[in-house]
Amino acid sequence: MADMMWAGRFSKKIDDTVNAFNSSIAFDGRMYKHDIQGSIAHATMLGDCGIIPKEDSVKIIEGLKGILADIESGKLMLDPSAEDIHMFIEAELTKRLGDVGKRLHTARSRNDQVAVDIRLYLRDEISEIKALVKELAVTIYNMAKEHTETVMPGYTHLQRAQPVTFAHHLLAYVQMLIRDIERLDDTAKRMNYCPLGSGALAGTTYKTNRKQTSDLLGFTAPMANSLDGVSDRDFCVELCCALSLIMTHLSRFSEEIVMWCSWEFKFIELDDAYATGSSIMPQKKNPDVTELIRGKTGRVNGDLITLLTMLKGLPLAYNKDMQEDKEAIFDAVDNVKLCVKTFIPMLATMRVLKDNMRNASAKGFINATDCADYLVKKGMPFRDAYKITGTLVALCIEKGLTLETLPLDEYRKMTELFDDDVYNAISLDTCVRERKSEGGPSPDAVKYQLEITAKALGI
Ligand code: ARG
Repeated sequence: MADMMWAGRFSKKIDDTVNAFNSSIAFDGRMYKHDIQGSIAHATMLGDCGIIPKEDSVKIIEGLKGILADIESGKLMLDPSAEDIHMFIEAELTKRLGDVGKRLHTARSRNDQVAVDIRLYLRDEISEIKALVKELAVTIYNMAKEHTETVMPGYTHLQRAQPVTFAHHLLAYVQMLIRDIERLDDTAKRMNYCPLGSGALAGTTYKTNRKQTSDLLGFTAPMANSLDGVSDRDFCVELCCALSLIMTHLSRFSEEIVMWCSWEFKFIELDDAYATGSSIMPQKKNPDVTELIRGKTGRVNGDLITLLTMLKGLPLAYNKDMQEDKEAIFDAVDNVKLCVKTFIPMLATMRVLKDNMRNASAKGFINATDCADYLVKKGMPFRDAYKITGTLVALCIEKGLTLETLPLDEYRKMTELFDDDVYNAISLDTCVRERKSEGGPSPDAVKYQLEITAKALGI
């Protein structure tokens, strides 16, 4: 192992166990590109401001580009015993350029360096996740377009409640995903301020140009306070919160799919390529993908708690605890990408068993509200109509009938307002067709919903 860059003050080499414990290169190595990007901007600024000789700045930039190319081609491997990616790249630069390489770290600390690296790295990840979530939303939207007439039971308390259409059910998830994308946008916007130039905590005595590095790296502006610049990880928390919500939405949808492909529901059939078998029960076809997504939601929520707990007791400014931010936020980012990527083709290939959805809607007195509304439209106050309908439902249960098969004289025993047209009013098709209030499930209302959803998705 090479000597530590900070070895000057020490009379002993670091203990191997402590070095391994302290090292973060195993997980921050993935930020090599962003670390180099940040260093190139810093070196450019140092040269332009005359803080280091211009020709040294040019050599440093060339050297950094060479390191990047060699890491990408596999010629240069990251040294697992290095303290972190920042130390590794700087040491490699000095190995290649000699004394010139030693000038790069002028007017900079690893504290502002790491703060800029994570932001650059997460900025790229956010745009990738946004594209994936949008692809998922469009996949669901396209399914919805096929199912504006597919009637299914809507539930509350997992009890059949009122009829909806499958398109309507699906579009609810699209709305959630649109908000998820907005949340990612928001996070990216707030995160996009440049901490470079904050130094270790208290800025620097050199005449740096923070606006230049900020502009070169595509940030909105330099961060206003150097202590804040190196201290906060609120952007990791905020992103993780947005990711937790994406997972929460996927997890609820997953739970529904788990139920829907059970024999008790049989609303959908997963494609064989997206299901698994059992080692002992030959008949089994298990929805493992959705179960894993449900499970991984707990893991991403755990990452959020890790970040919040890591930060909550830290005095300003940098503390080593903050190195723990990366494994948590990287884990959340990786898992969300993995889940969305797997969820999309699983959904796109699943078969919708419309008849089973419709048959399920025909049971469970899903039209009881419509029966009460029928009386209301004939002049009865809703509470009275509600009570009469409840009594009729109880009567049907006792006689083993449904509201559709209950004879008219039984209806009329309750009130003369009932007539033959009640059967049409409570038919499943009427119940769905008439739920055309804005945002409702009727085919007409859903067509409008599809229009505004397409606009929101920009498709
Ligand atoms: N590996 C460190 C981290 O991720 C880099 C910053 C180290 N700064 C320090 N003062 N030791 O937080």
